[in-house]
Amino acid sequence: AAGVDRDDAGRLTVQGLGAPDLAAEFGTPLLVLDEDDFRARARAFRSGFDAAFADLCGGADVYYAGKSLLTLSTARWAAEEGLRVDTASGGELAVALRAGVDPAHIGLHGNNKSDAELTAALEAGVGRIIVDSIDELEHLAALAAEQGRRAPVMLRLTPGVHAHTHDFIATAHEDQKFGLSLAPATTDRDGNVAGRSPASVAVAAALAAESVDLLGVHCHIGSQIFEADGFGLAAERVLEFLAQVKAEHGVELAELDLGGGHGIAYTAVDAPRPPAEIAAALADDVQKALERLQLACPRISIEPGRAISGPAGLTLYTVGVTKTVDADTPDGGTAARRYVAVDGGMSDNPRPVLYDADYTAVSAARTSDAQAVLTRVVGKHCESGDVLVRDVYLPEDLGRGDLLAVPATGAYTHVMASNYNALTRPAVVAVAGGRARVIIRRETQEDLFAREADPRLGR
Ligand code: LLP
Repeated sequence: AAGVDRDDAGRLTVQGLGAPDLAAEFGTPLLVLDEDDFRARARAFRSGFDAAFADLCGGADVYYAGKSLLTLSTARWAAEEGLRVDTASGGELAVALRAGVDPAHIGLHGNNKSDAELTAALEAGVGRIIVDSIDELEHLAALAAEQGRRAPVMLRLTPGVHAHTHDFIATAHEDQKFGLSLAPATTDRDGNVAGRSPASVAVAAALAAESVDLLGVHCHIGSQIFEADGFGLAAERVLEFLAQVKAEHGVELAELDLGGGHGIAYTAVDAPRPPAEIAAALADDVQKALERLQLACPRISIEPGRAISGPAGLTLYTVGVTKTVDADTPDGGTAARRYVAVDGGMSDNPRPVLYDADYTAVSAARTSDAQAVLTRVVGKHCESGDVLVRDVYLPEDLGRGDLLAVPATGAYTHVMASNYNALTRPAVVAVAGGRARVIIRRETQEDLFAREADPRLGR
C-alpha cells in the first residue's frame, strides 16, 4: 500500500520517492497514487477469482468499480491488468470509453439513468446495462426497440442481505432506492404484482421483450465489508432465485454478478483478507448451492472498487496552525487534545464528515522522538465538522511546515471532492517505476471562474 515505507532519514516514501520531494515538486494537498500497488491489487482480484472459480465455472470476471476512482489512467490500468470496468453514469461511461476500454467489457449502472445515458450505452455497444427497476426495464426495452437495438440486460436484485457497515453505504435493505426485491410485493402498484416478487416480474418482462437480451442477475450488498459470509449468503439467495427462474421459464440465466464492497484497512484495526481467500470461501458457498439446486454455474463476476484504488492512494498535507485545548473525557474529567490543521480537508476527503469514516495520519517528512500526544487532524474549511482524522497519536513537536500523510485515500476522495469555500482541488500524481507523473493537474483559482458568466469575464 502507498506510504508504508520510510527511508533511512525517516522520510515516508512511495515506490522509493520521498514524500517531501513529491510535496516540493507538486505542492500539497496532493493525492499520490502508487500505480504498481493499484495494478497489483487489480491482478490479485483477477487471478484470485479466476483461479477459485476455474474448475467450478470456467473462471470469473472482475469489473473495476470506476466510481471509486475513475480517471483515464486508472481505467487504462484496470483494463491493462485484464479487468473490465463498471460505470455508474454517462460521465463515467464516457471516461471508460475515452480510456480505450473495450465497450463489450463495460457495464453501466444507475438507479435513474437518463435516456441520453441509456442511448449512449446502446450506441457504444456496452456489454451490460444493469437494470434497477421494473420502470427502467420497460423504458429501456421501448427505447432499444425504437432504435432498432437489443439491450444487454442484467437485473439488479436486492437479496435482503445487510452488510455490517455504516448505514449510508449499505445498499441491501429492501426499503431503499436500489434494485428489485426478491421478496413478494404486497401492492399492485408501479409494475409490482401482489404476491410476486419485483425480481420475478422483471425476469418475465425481460424474457418477453423482443429488444432485451437478458444476460443474468446482479446484486451488491454494501461497502467496506469484512465478513465474507455476506457475499456467500447473497450468492446463495440469488442462485435460489435463478433455480426458480429455471423452474418457471425453463431458462438458465448465463451471468451472475456479486457486486463489490470488499473492505480495506483504513486504520490498524481493519484486517482485510486477500482476494484469493475471499474468492475461495465464496466459491465453496457457490458450489454447495449449485449442487443443492441442481444448477449449472453461471459466469461469475464481481465489482471491487475501493479494494483496488483505496490502499493505492495517500494524501499529503502541509501542517499550518496547531493548538491544544482541554477536552472532556468519557469519565467526566478533562485531558489535553491537540488540533493540527492542514491545508485541505472535507473538500478533498469528505468521507470522515459524511460517513464518520476513520483514517489515520503519520508524519511524512521526518520521524520524531517527541512524545506522541492525542491529536485531531482538521481541515481549513469554515465548518467545525471539518475533521480528517478524529483521534491519532502524533509527535508533540509536529508543527507549521511539517508534512502529514493520510494513507488509504485512493477511493471515494478525488471523485467526491468539491470546491467548498472555493478551495482548488488537489493534483493527482501517479508513481510507477521510481517516477512520478501528474495524471490530474491541480486546480487553479482561474479554474474556479471557468463556468461563470459575468461581464467582468467578458462572457
Ligand atoms: N458495485 C456496485 C453496484 C456499487 O454500488 C458499488 C459501490 C460498487 C460496486 C463498489 O463498491 P466498493 O468495492 O468500492 O466498496 N462513497 C461511499 C461508497 C459508496 C459505494 C457505492 N457503491 C464511501 O466513500 O464509502
